[in-house]
Amino acid sequence: MAFLSILSLAAFAAPVLGETHYFFSGFFSGSTIVGVEFDDATDTLSLKQNISTNASSGSKWIALDKRKQNLYVGTTGYFQSYAVASNGSLEYKNQIALPSNCQNANFLRAASASPYVVFGTPYSTGCSTQAITVDESGTLQSTVANLTYSNSSGVHGIDLSPNNDFVYSADDMGNAVWVHSFDATTGTAEEIQYLAAPTGANPRHLAAHPNGQWVYVVYEESNQLATYKRNNETGLLTDMNTTYPLIPETYTNTSSYWADEAMFSLPTTTNSSTPSTSPKYLITGTRSRSTLSPGYISAFALDASTGAITSQLFLIPSSASGGSANAVAPAPFSEEYFAITDSGANFVEMWKIDGSGVGAEKVARLGLGSGPANVVWID
Ligand SMILES: *[C@@H]1O[C@H](CO)[C@@H](O)[C@H](O)[C@H]1NC(C)=O
Ligand SMILES: *[C@@H]1O[C@H](CO)[C@@H](O)[C@H](O)[C@H]1NC(C)=O
Ligand SMILES: *[C@@H]1O[C@H](CO)[C@@H](O)[C@H](O)[C@H]1NC(C)=O
Ligand SMILES: *[C@@H]1O[C@H](CO)[C@@H](O)[C@H](O)[C@H]1NC(C)=O
Ligand SMILES: *[C@@H]1O[C@H](CO)[C@@H](O)[C@H](O)[C@H]1NC(C)=O
Ligand SMILES: *[C@@H]1O[C@H](CO)[C@@H](O)[C@H](O)[C@H]1NC(C)=O
Ligand SMILES: *[C@@H]1O[C@H](CO)[C@@H](O)[C@H](O)[C@H]1NC(C)=O
Ligand SMILES: *[C@@H]1O[C@H](CO)[C@@H](O)[C@H](O)[C@H]1NC(C)=O
Ligand SMILES: *[C@@H]1O[C@H](CO)[C@@H](O)[C@H](O)[C@H]1NC(C)=O
Repeated sequence: MAFLSILSLAAFAAPVLGETHYFFSGFFSGSTIVGVEFDDATDTLSLKQNISTNASSGSKWIALDKRKQNLYVGTTGYFQSYAVASNGSLEYKNQIALPSNCQNANFLRAASASPYVVFGTPYSTGCSTQAITVDESGTLQSTVANLTYSNSSGVHGIDLSPNNDFVYSADDMGNAVWVHSFDATTGTAEEIQYLAAPTGANPRHLAAHPNGQWVYVVYEESNQLATYKRNNETGLLTDMNTTYPLIPETYTNTSSYWADEAMFSLPTTTNSSTPSTSPKYLITGTRSRSTLSPGYISAFALDASTGAITSQLFLIPSSASGGSANAVAPAPFSEEYFAITDSGANFVEMWKIDGSGVGAEKVARLGLGSGPANVVWID
């Protein structure tokens, strides 16, 4: 499929191997966001567009809406809104200004269903997650609710329940996980649970399973993945006190690593034997604090009906340290492929999990002029 025709077809195209795919990558500095093509027949990545944005201090985190028509960008002082153009470019639309003590726009997640509320989290002590409304086109409009934490909290990542009615927050500075309910009709949020994490854990990002039964939490400081059982009616969590290592268990230099990301693979909608609520894998990235040592990549097999972790499939070094990134982004066209960003050596790579799931290997690399943050897939 030609790159230029991809975006208009993205919503309906059957994901098939032997085609090209498109994603955006943000950066920790500068105002450029790039559009990149991956050809899965030749295993090549190519830079298609250097897009100038209004995010002058980098695009630390980018998120697409469900319809893949809008890109939301976290940049110092603002959450910005861009329309995804049919030629793969971005058109600036609007921005939400952040409070003066919460300028560090750090994370965004868009609700998967109407009214498509977007949740944005600045990462500084005491800052709230903002629930931001969008207009019919998906452009950010205004903050309707603050999801508040304690004044010693610093929330780094969030995720939403399958129905977008609960928000899960990983409190890195406050070493906790929080649960808020959110009512999109009234635009109101309420804190319903605070769970202190084990000493020295520091939850960074988390992933709410699409079947509603689990929330998996990355403990940044202890370099572990923790499992929290979710009550699908109340939204409340139970810490199962079970963790998996995100660096080799023999390593005692835990403080030389900082685990960062966990994301589910994306079942392809054309495969009727794999419902969209049954991802095969949870894929994680861990950064090394030294550019001389690699970070780590791991993947977990998930039970098709319960979503429980059945095994840790592998724990292998990434190509380089990851810098501040090593952010994994599972591909929408195959559960075996994922992208990973490295801001220490400035590249984005594609990796492929092998058929038996016991390993993964790099299949393509694209060098970049500066440090990429995270990527989001159009198709
Ligand atoms: C993007 O910018 C880089 C320099 O930063 C340049 O090497 C590359 O050719 C540009 N690519 C496109 C598609 O404009
Ligand atoms: C966004 O950038 C364009 C040029 O790239 C500029 O014309 C416009 O004023 C900027 N808007 C804001 C809100 O900064
Ligand atoms: C993409 O389309 C927009 C209009 O939607 C246009 O302003 C822009 O110049 C185009 N960019 C490229 C790289 O063709
Ligand atoms: C959210 O909190 C900010 C202060 O940090 C306040 O200015 C704003 O009015 C609040 N918004 C809502 C909708 O409560
Ligand atoms: C933090 O919260 C505590 C308890 O609510 C309060 O006593 C303290 O003054 C707050 N500190 C700041 C800096 O707001
Ligand atoms: C979880 O609850 C939602 C409705 O809130 C329902 O659609 C879904 O089927 C439930 N899932 C399970 C596994 O019970
Ligand atoms: C996890 O440990 C805490 C603290 O020891 C305990 O209260 C809780 O019941 C444990 N959870 C489970 C599922 O056993
Ligand atoms: C951590 O320790 C292991 C085992 O000694 C060593 O191979 C690795 O390079 C160290 N990592 C860092 C980031 O220093
Ligand atoms: C569909 O999903 C099943 C179960 O995960 C898998 O075994 C099968 O290979 C998939 N088929 C395709 C075409 O991807």
